[in-house]
This record gives sequence, C-alpha cells and structure tokens, in this order.
Amino acid sequence: MGDLELIRDLELRAGALFRSMGMPDIAEHPVPAADELARFVHAERAWAVAAAGDVPVAFVLVDVVDGLAHVEQVSVEPAYARRRLGSSLLDHVETWAAGQKMQALTLTTFRHVPWNAPYYARLGFVELADAERGPELVALMAKEARHGLDPADRVAMRRPVRSAAA
Ligand SMILES: CC(C)(COP(=O)(O)OP(=O)(O)OC[C@H]1O[C@@H](n2cnc3c(N)ncnc32)[C@H](O)[C@@H]1OP(=O)(O)O)[C@@H](O)C(=O)NCCC(=O)NCCS
Repeated sequence: MGDLELIRDLELRAGALFRSMGMPDIAEHPVPAADELARFVHAERAWAVAAAGDVPVAFVLVDVVDGLAHVEQVSVEPAYARRRLGSSLLDHVETWAAGQKMQALTLTTFRHVPWNAPYYARLGFVELADAERGPELVALMAKEARHGLDPADRVAMRRPVRSAAA
C-alpha cells in the first residue's frame, strides 16, 4: 500500500473519535483523495511521524492562508494518542513557519469537541473574532459552511510564531 493510502486509513481511524461525541457524519466524512494529499506533499507542507516499520502514526497538512501557516489537518493514530505527537507536529509547523517568515499558525476547528478548540487553546491558540479573520480564512470558513458545517460550531484560531520577528 502506498504511503498516501496509509495516511488516508490513519485519518479515517483518527476521525472515528468523533463518534464518541455523537458526530457520526464527521467520523464518516470521506477522507481526502490521495491526489489531494499529494498536493500537500508536493508543496512540501506535509509532515508525518513514523513508527516501527516506517508506518505513519501521525501527520499534519499545512496550507498557506492569508500568508499564514494554516493547519488543514492534524491526525494521530488512536493507539498513539496522548503522547504529544499532535503538539510536537504543531511545534514543527511553527518552526517551518518561522523559516518562511510567517507570523502565525491558524486553523479552524470544532468549538465544543474536547480534543479540538479546548486542546488548541491549551497549546496557545487563541480564538479569532470575525473581524480578525483574513479574507482567505473567511472564504475557507464559508466553504466549510457550504459543505454542511454549522458556523456556530466552528471556530478560527491563531497562534503566533514565537521566533518570528515582530
Ligand atoms: C487532536 C489530535 C491530533 C491530538 O493528538 P495527540 O497526539 O493525542 O495530542 P497530544 O498528545 O499532543 O495532546 C493530548 C491532549 O489532547 C486532548 N485529547 C486527546 N485525545 C482526547 C480525547 N479522546 N478526549 C479528550 N481529549 C483528548 C487532551 O487535552 C490531551 O491532553 P491529556 O493527554 O493531558 O489529557 C488527535 O486527538 C486526533 O487525531 N484527533 C482526531 C482528528 C482531529 O480531530 N484532528 C483535529 C482536527 S482540527
């Protein structure tokens, strides 16, 4: 099986966590096609953590949105959860963003899911008010809404890149 198929399977297993929140639609949401994942790989904005046998157990995908490092997806294999793989991948993105002279990381996530907004808040992400969202982020959230995500459930968050020049 190709690496991208392993990543797709991993995302499916990680997403299954949403069933425990009564969110089966999210758990069963189709994972991105391999060519969509390949877009991030070719742009060199995809990173994974591998376990023994080179099997991926965590990954992060990053887009550039309003000139900032936008975390499109971060997923951890459930058997490897709560070992700080997620937070270390986000720190890695921050190091990359600093190298790109970007000022911050952004993401959109679910407000009330414990391992979403509250988790990111503990990692230093702060909610962005509507007026603080850049035009591309606004467009991205409008697209999420068109795909059925209730805007009331969604939050945009930002974490400054600590080593970036002010
Ligand atoms: C979000 C996610 C990437 C976190 O990865 P992780 O490596 O387990 O996270 P870390 O080890 O860095 O941090 C663990 C913290 O996440 C939160 N967390 C992780 N799993 C949780 C769960 N099942 N229930 C509640 N909180 C959880 C807790 O705050 C936990 O801290 P604790 O272990 O001290 O209680 C992972 O849970 C995941 O893949 N979730 C499914 C996909 C997803 O929701 N991705 C984010 C979309 S925006």
